[in-house]
Amino acid sequence: MIDFSLSDEQRQIQSLARQFAKDVIIPNAASYDREESYPAEIVAQAAELGLLNTIIPETVGGLGLGMLEEVIIAEELAYGCMGIYTILMASELGITPILLAGSKEQQERFLSPLLDGPKLAAFALSEPDNGSDAAAMKTRARFEGDEVILNGSKMWISNGGIADLNVVFASFDPEKKHQGTLAVVVEKGTPGLSHQKIHGKLGQRATYTAELIFEDVRVPAANILGEPGDGFRIAMQTLDKTRIPVAAGSVGIARRALDESVSYAAERKAFGKPINRFQAIQFKLADIKIGVETARWQTYYAAYLVDAGLPHTQASAIAKTYASDIAFDAANEAIQIHGGYGYVAEYPVEKLLRDVKLNQIYEGTNEIQRLVIARTLTD
Ligand code: CAA
Repeated sequence: MIDFSLSDEQRQIQSLARQFAKDVIIPNAASYDREESYPAEIVAQAAELGLLNTIIPETVGGLGLGMLEEVIIAEELAYGCMGIYTILMASELGITPILLAGSKEQQERFLSPLLDGPKLAAFALSEPDNGSDAAAMKTRARFEGDEVILNGSKMWISNGGIADLNVVFASFDPEKKHQGTLAVVVEKGTPGLSHQKIHGKLGQRATYTAELIFEDVRVPAANILGEPGDGFRIAMQTLDKTRIPVAAGSVGIARRALDESVSYAAERKAFGKPINRFQAIQFKLADIKIGVETARWQTYYAAYLVDAGLPHTQASAIAKTYASDIAFDAANEAIQIHGGYGYVAEYPVEKLLRDVKLNQIYEGTNEIQRLVIARTLTD
C-alpha cells in the first residue's frame, strides 16, 4: 500500500514554516520587493528557527533533513515570498555539491561554520555567455603548487557576494570539455573575489543576485570537491536534486494564487452576486487547484525517490517543469480573476507572476528540462 500521509515530524516542520511565512514573511515581502533590498533580519530569524541550511548532516551538527522535509519547507516559504525562498533555498543548493562530493574533512570544514548564525552558501555555475550550455564555461582554473588559481566570472548567482562560501565550477582543460571541469569551494573574502549586484530584476527582488568576478583568486587544492574532472557531473547531480525544491516553491506560489483568488472571488460582486457564482471564475479556480494538487504529488514523488536513493533525474525535471508552468498559469489567472486590482501592487497577485517567471528559467530552463526528460526516453 502507498502511504500518502506525512509523519508527525514532517507535519511539525510544515506548521513551523507555514507560521513563519504567515507571521514574518508575508507582512514584509512587499516592501523588500519594492525596495529591492536584502531581508537580513528574516534570514536571521529563519536560521534561528532551523529553516536555513537544513540539509547539513547530523554528523557535522546539522539537522540532516531529507528531501521531502526540504520540499515541505520550500512550499511554505514560497507561499510567503519566492524571493525570500530563493535566498534560503539557494543556500541548500550551494551545500548540495559538498554533500555529494566533499570528503568528511571538507564537510566538517565548510559546513560546520554555516551553522554558526545566518550564513549562506552559493552555487556558481552560469556565466555571462553560458547558461544552458554549462559545459562551455569560460572560467579558468590553473594549478600552481598546491593551489588552484581562478579567473573569469559567474552570472546570475543567487546569494553571490553575500554567501560565506561559493561552490565554483571552472574549466582546467577546455579541450576535454565536461571532463576538464572541476568544482571548488571559494570562501568569502578570498583576495581577487569581487561581485556586482544585479539590479532591475522583474521579480524575486528580495534575493541578492550578483555577478561574481574572479581575478587570480587563489584557493588551496584541498578545496576541490571530488577530483579535477568531476565538476560537470557534480553540477548535474546537484541540479537533479535541487530542481525539486524549485518545483515545491512553484506549488507554494500556485497555492497562494489560489487562496488569494478564492478570497477575492467571494468578496467581489458583479451583476448583483459574488463573482465566485460565475462558472467562468469557478473553472479558473478549479484549474488552479488541479495544478496545485498534481504538481505537489509529482514533487513529493521526486523527493521520495531522492530519499530512497533511487534514480530521480527524470522525475525531478518533470516536477520542476510542470510545477513552474502550472504556477505561472495560476498567477496569470489570479490576476485575471482580480481584474484591474490584480494589475497593481495593492494586491499580492502581480508579484506572484513577476516572481514565478524565474522558476521557468533558473536551475535549468524548462526547455533544458524537456531535453533532460526526452533524453531519458530516447538515449
Ligand atoms: N547526472 C550525472 N551525470 C550526468 C548527468 C546527470 N544528471 N547529466 C549528464 N551527465 C554526464 C554524462 O553522463 C556525461 O558524462 P561522460 O562525459 O562521462 O560521458 C557528461 O555529464 C556530459 O553529459 P551531456 O553530454 O548530457 O552534457 P551536455 O553538454 O549535452 O549538457 C545539459 C547537458 C542537460 C544541457 C546540461 O548542460 C544542463 O543541465 N544545462 C543546464 C544548466 C543549468 O541547469 N544551470 C542552472 C544554473 S544554477 C541556477 O540557476 C541557480 C541559481 O543561482 C538560482
